[in-house]
Amino acid sequence: MERTFVMVKPDGVQRGLIGEIVQRFERKGLQLVGAKFVQITKQQAETHYQEHHGKDFYEKLVAFITSGPVFAMVWQGDDVIALSRQMIGRTSPLDAAPGTIRGDYAAHTNFNLIHGSDSPESASREIANFFGTDELVTYNKAI
Ligand code: CMP
Repeated sequence: MERTFVMVKPDGVQRGLIGEIVQRFERKGLQLVGAKFVQITKQQAETHYQEHHGKDFYEKLVAFITSGPVFAMVWQGDDVIALSRQMIGRTSPLDAAPGTIRGDYAAHTNFNLIHGSDSPESASREIANFFGTDELVTYNKAI
């Protein structure tokens, strides 16, 4: 069983897509174990995007992700990291397949609505950056 960090970015919040995105994850059969609606700090943003530090889009990325509230979530399930990435779609809207969240709703790489962890290591780091262990729940999922 894996956990992954998923975040509706400020553009997704402003476009009213939180419900649509949560619904897609629920309908897939994944289990929500944590959620919060927050305005993230610059320090949190820098930790979250540390792998992009120094890239030409880094400063804009940090400015954007701190520009408004985000909806941060932790989802659990077998292979949830890869499944989530599949549902989210590729980074560039030109590459994101129809049927994926970005393929259906995003038109620009800088405003691609949603983030999902790309590996178990990233997931652990990103979850810890946003959630205390006491903010994540454990419960049985019947199906
Ligand atoms: P995400 O993969 O969630 O995290 C890094 C973000 O940087 C990415 O989404 C894009 O929104 C943004 N970004 C902007 N330019 C680029 C680029 N050239 N390559 C990758 N990501 C980019």
